[in-house]
Amino acid sequence: MINKGIILAGGLGTRMSPLTKAVNKQLLPLYDKPLLYYPLSILMLAGIKEILIIVNRGQLHQFKKILPEKNNLGIKLTYAEQNRPGGLPQAFIIGEKFIKKDNVALILGDNFFYGQNLTNKLIECRKLKNGARIFLHPVNNPKLYGVAVVDKKDKITELAEKPKKPKTNLAVTGLYFFDNKVISLSKKLKPSKRKEIEIIDLLIKYKNNKKLKADYLGRGGVWLDTGSVDDFYNASDFISTIEKRQGLKIACLEEIALKNKWIGKKEIIKSIKFYGKCEYSNYLISLI
Ligand code: TTP
Repeated sequence: MINKGIILAGGLGTRMSPLTKAVNKQLLPLYDKPLLYYPLSILMLAGIKEILIIVNRGQLHQFKKILPEKNNLGIKLTYAEQNRPGGLPQAFIIGEKFIKKDNVALILGDNFFYGQNLTNKLIECRKLKNGARIFLHPVNNPKLYGVAVVDKKDKITELAEKPKKPKTNLAVTGLYFFDNKVISLSKKLKPSKRKEIEIIDLLIKYKNNKKLKADYLGRGGVWLDTGSVDDFYNASDFISTIEKRQGLKIACLEEIALKNKWIGKKEIIKSIKFYGKCEYSNYLISLI
């Protein structure tokens, strides 16, 4: 069972400059909450309580303002800093002391997941004993992503990064489940041309050992990335449409913690005090 999760919430956010010059992308508002709430909600939905958030060196105090280690969510939150964005597998090198001998989930701080039955799928992935599991999702423009070919047993047989001629439309999303070997394998990776160690190289190692399994959000599932300004506003629109129609919030962290029975009414009241008079607090009031 995977009990630990990492959120990679650093990065330069170059494509969204100047918005990201003073504020990290993960702290910008995706509709009514900081972007960071969404990947965190996914780990919490999976039932993962021990969470490491990796941020850029120098930005820790900003993150702690919104998500202090001593939080009202019933989760055990720790932070670590990354000196520079040296690639996604650095999460496992920086996070070595946090992971210890366990298996671990990784989610990118700028990825949005939503859909029917997602929680059950996440809980299923947490059962991983060895190897790795990743979520694949169809996209219109696979050339921009890591692309996978899968056999009948959902084993991944081919992987290509931003291929000119993609063999499928199945993109590798930013949610991964790894066994403990991920630490030693990440340490062996050589930097690519862009001077980063690459997640695709890590995944290829698992694939070559026939240890990389595909999971799917399914056709009704939603995966959005928020790398460009347009992506960001489109994702905001999506969330606003659903929330207004249903009167239910996506990624309300306290609601998930309450459902998981990690917190009770007392913590919700503390949270309401923390946020102050706002629409989010009104929603929390409605929960109790
Ligand atoms: P990227 O999309 O590679 O980078 P970015 O978000 O900083 O944007 P840009 O390309 O416009 O500069 O990263 C995906 C996510 O992973 C994002 O949330 C930032 C995070 N990240 C890190 O925290 N550390 C890293 O070393 C890298 C490469 C990414």
